[in-house]
Amino acid sequence: MRLTLAFILSIIFAVGLVAFGFTFYQISAERNKLSSELEIRTTRIAEEIFQSKGTFFEKTAPRDIERITDSINKRYNLIGIAVYYNADSIVCNNLSRNFIHNSISYISQAITADTTLGNFFKEGGRNIYQYIKPVNGTNISHNALVFYNDAGYIDKLMGGIWLRSFIRWFIQAFLASVVTLLIIRWGIFGPINRIVDWAKALRTGNPGQAVSKPRVKFLAPLHREIESIAKAMHEAKANAEVEARLRTSAEAIWTPDRLKVEMENLLQKKMMVVVSNREPYMHMHEGKAIKCIVPASGMITAMEPILKACSGLWIAAGTGDADRETVDKNGKVEVPPEEPKYTLKRLWLTKEEENHFYYGFSNEGMWPLCHIAHTRPTFRKIDWDFYKKVNEDFAKAVIAEIKDEEQPYILIQDFHFALLPELIKKEKPHAKVAIFWHIPWPNPESFGICPWQKEILHGMLGADLIGFHTQYHCNHFLETVNSAIESRVLWDNFLVKRGGHTTVVKPFPISIDFTMKDYDKDTAKMSPAQLLNQHGIGSQFMGIGVDRIDYTKGIVEKFLAIERFLEKNPSYIGKFTFVQIGAPSRTLIKSYSDTVASVENEAVRINARFKAKDWKAILLLKRHHSHKEIAPFYSSADFCMVTSLHDGMNLVAKEFVASRHQVDGSLILSRFTGASQELQGAIIVNPYDIEKSADAIKTALEMPLEEQNQRMKQMRLVIVRNNIYAWASSLLRTMATIN
Ligand code: G6P
Repeated sequence: MRLTLAFILSIIFAVGLVAFGFTFYQISAERNKLSSELEIRTTRIAEEIFQSKGTFFEKTAPRDIERITDSINKRYNLIGIAVYYNADSIVCNNLSRNFIHNSISYISQAITADTTLGNFFKEGGRNIYQYIKPVNGTNISHNALVFYNDAGYIDKLMGGIWLRSFIRWFIQAFLASVVTLLIIRWGIFGPINRIVDWAKALRTGNPGQAVSKPRVKFLAPLHREIESIAKAMHEAKANAEVEARLRTSAEAIWTPDRLKVEMENLLQKKMMVVVSNREPYMHMHEGKAIKCIVPASGMITAMEPILKACSGLWIAAGTGDADRETVDKNGKVEVPPEEPKYTLKRLWLTKEEENHFYYGFSNEGMWPLCHIAHTRPTFRKIDWDFYKKVNEDFAKAVIAEIKDEEQPYILIQDFHFALLPELIKKEKPHAKVAIFWHIPWPNPESFGICPWQKEILHGMLGADLIGFHTQYHCNHFLETVNSAIESRVLWDNFLVKRGGHTTVVKPFPISIDFTMKDYDKDTAKMSPAQLLNQHGIGSQFMGIGVDRIDYTKGIVEKFLAIERFLEKNPSYIGKFTFVQIGAPSRTLIKSYSDTVASVENEAVRINARFKAKDWKAILLLKRHHSHKEIAPFYSSADFCMVTSLHDGMNLVAKEFVASRHQVDGSLILSRFTGASQELQGAIIVNPYDIEKSADAIKTALEMPLEEQNQRMKQMRLVIVRNNIYAWASSLLRTMATIN
């Protein structure tokens, strides 16, 4: 508004200045013209009078002259005539008398120069023109006639011109202001406002609201410029939003570095000790050389990346046949061998200890006790005694390592060390002790068959924190505690209070090392046909299963489902092969050797049933495979099939999903795994239901790519957000907050 006003005032001023200039010039010219006309007219009258009356003025007495001048005035419309006699007397009529003092000096000049003179003067606000004519006769000299003419009308005319100019200027200024206002309002501000609205719409992310091009041509380039600026802005904004989203999600995603910082803050230089039965690296003789392998264990898959990121000490049983040759005198070795990041301390079990502690109580008692897989647990007193002894030995080893530490963090792994928390706490009450149970916890009735359930519960409740994969397992544990021992279970907070000690019981769904870096990786993969070709099989489609050969894994059930699938869908015979990577495990236990035999027999039987040239229904790769060896099978397969009859989490399912960088493929997942609660994009099956599992294979193979992408994306996001670093930070933070 102020701008408009300033604009209009400037126009008014400019128009006024021009009008004033022109009027001034016109008036000057007009005044000059009128003045010279008056001069000419007065001169002419004066000359005429002088011609006719000149002699008369010479002779006549002054008294008579006065009478004559009055009549001349009337006749020639003059306002006065004065007669000047030798400077002795002046004869004038009444009016001329008022003017004569303006004439005296001019009269002298005219007489002296003997010439006529004319000029204007003002008298009483009146403009007068006087004409002086010297008179030189025979009897007279130094006389003069003065004629006065009225010049007032010139001023009046000039005033009229000024007034008309002013009115014209006023009308022009008014019209110019109105027109300017309209031009500004409709011609400039209107289109500009529309451009502003449109630019605003683009800025606020609504480019669909684009306005039409302005009608005023001169704004078109501006429109074009703003259009491209707004588009660039919009794109930049969209990019910034994507970047911000990525940054936010990347920040929210846990990484080894972030965990390291978190642990430094939480631990404040306190020592962290991990205790497990299975060691993360086993040294084995291979001919004359020694090779180092990572055993097949979900527990190791999960814990290794944490130790790699944050270092610390890992105490475990040394079971590799070259383990003793690779440690120092304290039983320690820096690992991973290729790039040491933390210390592994090996403890040595005797054959007897291994038999009764590991094979006996841990794997024939606790393992089937906790897994509802219909394999009966065996409880032997001697196994239990060795279980207690080995727990005590490990407790001593831990205490020796932490003796100088004020408040170390001890992370105990799994069912092999149920008694360890209490044993450590007794000696080192200020240590923060957690035990994570990597396998399921059954209902109280099932667990209640264990003759030493109370000792086991007391041992575990020595910990400050007990972790399971799911809330379901936590609830089972608390129900078991509630029904089996003297204690107070606070269900609201999932706490157990017993003899002045409090234990927090919480779910921490374990995961794998899968960060944003891995998420965005785009690796080339072989087709199933190419991969199978390397194994002498000509097949187009491929499923993959990776398990320790364990009766809880439902491998036989899986094979039965494959058999049924081929029965129901014979068109896949010769075109589909299932690759089962099976790492033999705990083979000294009969139920395990039986499982290996059943798995082998089933594979042979089914392959024999659906025989075809250069083709097999099931390819059983029965040996330990490294992660590197498994990777191509994960990435090439059309689907992965996990059929555990009972499983705490099952990290194979997560590893398969993490390896699918092309976001394709399907996961068939047993509903009895902890993973099935997180991985909703999987095809969930009951592995005991062979018919439905067979149908799931068909669904997986024939699932539209779009649906595969959608399901896989969902699962990958779940895993990247809840990776092992998130798991560790959550567990350690919970430990740190416990007093
Ligand atoms: C499960 C257990 C682990 C164990 C792994 C392999 O995943 O939770 O603690 O290490 O099986 O069993 P193994 O007896 O070979 O150590």
